[in-house]
Amino acid sequence: MSNKFDKIVEREKALLCNTYGRYPLAISKAKGCKLYDLDGQEYLDFLAGIAVCSLGHSRVDLAEVMAEQAKKMVHVSNLFYQEPQLDLAEKLLGTCGADKVFFCNSGAEANEGAIKLARRYMHRVMNEDRHEIITLERSFHGRTLSTLTATGQQGPIKDGFNPLPEGFLTVPFGNTNALRGAINKHTAAIMVEVIQGEGGVRPLSSEYVNDIVALCKENGILLIVDEVQSGMCRTGKFWAHQHYGITPDIFTSAKALANGLPIGAVLCTDKVAKGFGPGSHATTFGGGAVVSAVASKVIDIMLEEKLADRAMEMGEFAKIEALKLQTKYPDKIAGTRGLGLLFGIELKCDGPKVWNALLSKKVICNLTQGTILRLVPPLTIGKEDILTFMSVLDSVLAEI
Ligand SMILES: Cc1ncc(COP(=O)(O)O)c(C=O)c1O
Repeated sequence: MSNKFDKIVEREKALLCNTYGRYPLAISKAKGCKLYDLDGQEYLDFLAGIAVCSLGHSRVDLAEVMAEQAKKMVHVSNLFYQEPQLDLAEKLLGTCGADKVFFCNSGAEANEGAIKLARRYMHRVMNEDRHEIITLERSFHGRTLSTLTATGQQGPIKDGFNPLPEGFLTVPFGNTNALRGAINKHTAAIMVEVIQGEGGVRPLSSEYVNDIVALCKENGILLIVDEVQSGMCRTGKFWAHQHYGITPDIFTSAKALANGLPIGAVLCTDKVAKGFGPGSHATTFGGGAVVSAVASKVIDIMLEEKLADRAMEMGEFAKIEALKLQTKYPDKIAGTRGLGLLFGIELKCDGPKVWNALLSKKVICNLTQGTILRLVPPLTIGKEDILTFMSVLDSVLAEI
């Protein structure tokens, strides 16, 4: 470790709350699919800021949009009408079956908004005392008190934060009977990631999603899909729920929406949007002019460059290459999972050891649930970089 790195670790210890288990690396620059440490050493990035920088890092075209908008207007507040927010809304709604959108600043905030909207719709539009949200085990929905409670995981993420809010219930993943049994007269919504990200890159089966949709219809409850990680072309469609041919009542977006600037969005049908009225929900920064202008440009690029198709193609390519490694190392790789470039390689061997060895060979990805290498590179990644990743993984697996 370099002196510079030790210094940065010491500075952080003195200055920041100790919430992050950081990777042993400080980044000073990021460009395209590459990151650079303090000494200028280059790393291949299969993380993309955790599925955020889908168009690649530090793009000049986005920087120009950002600068142009910043020179005209940065922030005036949501007390005013403003066009950049509407331009973004129009583009975003053009990618899906939703009718209305509310802009906020992060994934957790989008899910918090979705939960509030579901409850308020039930109370104010349907006149029903339905407030419970059912979620799935191993889901991840955020770190605010409500989204944390909704999250189907235990451990440090939840420890010490009691009392957690009421009105949330978690059921086992993939079990329709458990879900049916959990629905009651107070259920407002079922909230799912159709492909769990943090939970280990686990897609829901089509049958299970069909069951969920049917249960929602039968019981008059809403379906919320959390697309914070899976949305914006990552899985081979603009939205992951489009693989299943469904239209959620509410779905959320964040991460890749502005390629690294903070933004979140709650999208919903006209019917459900009636749950909100003036004063019922708001945020100071949501839908600000700069982030909206950048997100509009992100959508333009994604559509022009057909990045959903590219994500599918590159995901299939990565899968073929990973399966070759599985054949070579049947005792070390259990299989692959995911869709498009939300791609997981399940290890049978020591996950942290593999992850560390990859890092030491200047390849960055994420390890989730202890044994799943989660690959969420920029969607602009090419076959050459995928081959580099796989050949480094090959050498790592040969060594351990
Ligand atoms: C599916 C999902 N929902 C919500 C969140 C929370 O988003 P944020 O960290 O922007 O609050 C994440 C973050 O990883 C996520 O993957």
